Amino acid sequence: MSSGLHWVIVVVVVLNILGCLWLVRLANRSPGAKGDTSSVTGHTWDGDLQEYNNPLPRWWLWMFYISIVFGFIYLALYPGMGTFKGLLGWSQLSQYEAEVERAEREYAPLFARYAATPLPELAADPRAVAMGQRLFVNYCSACHGSDGGGAPGYPNLTDNDWLYGGTPEAVETSILNGRNGMMIPFSATLQDTAVAEVVAYVRGLSGQTVDPALAAAGEARFAQNCAACHLPDGSGNQALGAPNLTDNIWLYGGSEAAVTATVSNGRNGTMPAHRDLLGEDKVHLLAAYVLSLGGGE
Ligand code: HEC
Ligand code: HEC
Repeated sequence: MSSGLHWVIVVVVVLNILGCLWLVRLANRSPGAKGDTSSVTGHTWDGDLQEYNNPLPRWWLWMFYISIVFGFIYLALYPGMGTFKGLLGWSQLSQYEAEVERAEREYAPLFARYAATPLPELAADPRAVAMGQRLFVNYCSACHGSDGGGAPGYPNLTDNDWLYGGTPEAVETSILNGRNGMMIPFSATLQDTAVAEVVAYVRGLSGQTVDPALAAAGEARFAQNCAACHLPDGSGNQALGAPNLTDNIWLYGGSEAAVTATVSNGRNGTMPAHRDLLGEDKVHLLAAYVLSLGGGE
């Protein structure tokens, strides 16, 4: 905030409050004696009903004075006068940070107790799983779905088809460090017909109906271009996150169009690391929740 704006705000706020004070004092004239008609406004209804301009009741007046004093005290203690931070140094951020710190202090022992429990045991503990589920809804469901069922490009965490492995260690590592799938694009290396051949071969691996001549021509291309990562039989390599291509479970879709897009353009699925964001104790609970979804190894 510029210092010019700062002073504009200070002046407007002070003038407003002083204006209120002036208005209240204006209304605070002593009441006329009974029968005194000097404060009659001159408005008359129904023949003889006259409007008086009498002062406010005392208690009401005092409420106004107290509000004005309160206003000044508040503006001294809390931010309100332009860039002045207030004597208490309060801010939304400092309050939020204090609350987060209190919550962490409160829950740290609980998380620490679970952190020492091995994952298979934790995945069978309903209270730990419930905590993991709440974390999952907050931090993971946007990508993996609220039930962990996944979406195109975002793996299903409830089946036992794993890109990187379903052991407790592998799942925890996926969440802590994140993962980065690197399927290279082949549009530059392979002609369109060669892509069509290898796509037919790959789709045939999972039992889809394909043109047998195309698929036969694709077999050698697969061995040459793809087997290094997906293994010669297409069953995948969890060390690289290269999916099993024989199980008819698809991360990006198994239609001819989807597989052609995958092979031509490549894919780069990114699972963000959560170590710094959540800390190891919370990730431990999340891993327990993911394992409890039944995927197993
Ligand atoms: C921004 C989206 C995103 C968020 C948020 C996210 N993930 Fe992922 N996750 C992915 C993607 C994409 C992959 C697959 C990476 C790949 O294709 O190589 C993945 C992979 C995984 C895997 C490995 C699956 C396998 O088959 O090996 C696990 C386990 C996992 N995520 C758990 C979680 C958990 C638990 C959370 C919450 C803390 C989470 N993810 C949050 C996108 C996300
Ligand atoms: C450098 C290693 C590597 C090579 C070489 C490679 N892939 Fe991949 N492939 C991957 C990885 C890793 C993924 C997962 C990408 C992700 O998670 O985003 C993948 C994903 C795929 C998918 C998507 C599977 C699904 O479930 O949707 C298909 C299909 C595929 N590859 C086919 C091929 C074919 C065909 C070739 C050869 C022309 C090939 N790949 C070569 C590593 C490789």
